[in-house]
Amino acid sequence: MEQFSDEFRAGLHNLMRWRRDVRHFRTDPVPEDTLKQCFDSIVSAPSVGLSEPWRIVRVTSANARAQALENFRAANADALAGYSGDQAKRYAALKLSGMQDAPEQIAVFCDDATEKGQGLGVATMPQMRRYSVVAAITQMWLTARSLGLGLGWVSVLDPARLSRDLEVSEDWVLIGYLCIGWPKEASLTPELETRGWEVRSPHLHIESR
Ligand SMILES: Cc1cc2nc3c(=O)[nH]c(=O)nc-3n(C[C@H](O)[C@H](O)[C@H](O)COP(=O)(O)O)c2cc1C
Repeated sequence: MEQFSDEFRAGLHNLMRWRRDVRHFRTDPVPEDTLKQCFDSIVSAPSVGLSEPWRIVRVTSANARAQALENFRAANADALAGYSGDQAKRYAALKLSGMQDAPEQIAVFCDDATEKGQGLGVATMPQMRRYSVVAAITQMWLTARSLGLGLGWVSVLDPARLSRDLEVSEDWVLIGYLCIGWPKEASLTPELETRGWEVRSPHLHIESR
């Protein structure tokens, strides 16, 4: 079995500390072979029953990007309307997507109808397919950061509208709209924390039974 050194472990720990959700991108392109390394990390991701339910759509056309951006703007306006007072002001000041600048944009779906995996593990918990896609995105997120890239996960979207606009199968459920590109800045602190919205818990609470 492959052995990993202390130095590697320290590097991995550092990578996880430096992984950020990125919303501020430079507009210069990501080389195809660099992007391929990100996609390759999905191939080795865990999935329930080895169902590999992830479906990836690269959003490249000006039209599809404009539709996705408009979708975000509408969803964000709706979300803002759900807040009031000081919280509304703070929400309005947040930047919740880098869709205007990110050179690469990827819609990641879960195929809820895939027969791959032969149903293993999903009879009791069908949501496990979707969790598998989240696990795959996490691998890609870390890989991207290791390559100096930033990834931003956008969930402020109407998923049905995005699926219609991208003309994907009705069996596919949106898991994440991902912006990828070179970050304008690096930080050890989540942006939501820097902007006073929420803080990262210093401790992990673990219960015993
Ligand atoms: C499932 C998921 C959905 C998210 N959706 C959004 C989003 O719509 N917009 C946004 O700006 N950040 C989004 N984020 C990023 C979180 O805000 C971010 O992970 C959190 O604030 C911690 O910051 P960090 O990722 O930089 O450590 C999302 C993250 C996850 C895991």
